[in-house]
Amino acid sequence: MTLTSDDMNTDLNEFTKLCRVDSLVEKRGKKFVVGEVEVAVFKVGENVYALNNICPHQHTSIISEGVVEKGCVLCPAHGWEFQLKNGKLKYGGGGVDSYEVKIVDDFVYAKVFEKKLNW
Ligand code: FES
Repeated sequence: MTLTSDDMNTDLNEFTKLCRVDSLVEKRGKKFVVGEVEVAVFKVGENVYALNNICPHQHTSIISEGVVEKGCVLCPAHGWEFQLKNGKLKYGGGGVDSYEVKIVDDFVYAKVFEKKLNW
């Protein structure tokens, strides 16, 4: 959903401005660092997703380099599949944190929080 800054319901207090939407390449991840948190951002069609960039398998900073396929990003190291909509592993439990995203005036904002331990 695209909001404008005129939207009275737009509350970006807890969000961090990351980039312009048009700077994202379709289905190609981009890494951002917000405080101590690495964030992997993906654009798929009209949607933008933000996940923690650290793969829980070997605690590697790598998710932004993954291949996007059928609503998931595949870790390029060993192929674990994380759902873009919520960061959860496609098979089994656990996953990576996912962050709420808003698009306002063509900019991407994410509500990033410190890591929850999901493994
Ligand atoms: S490091 Fe990601 S699947 Fe192994």
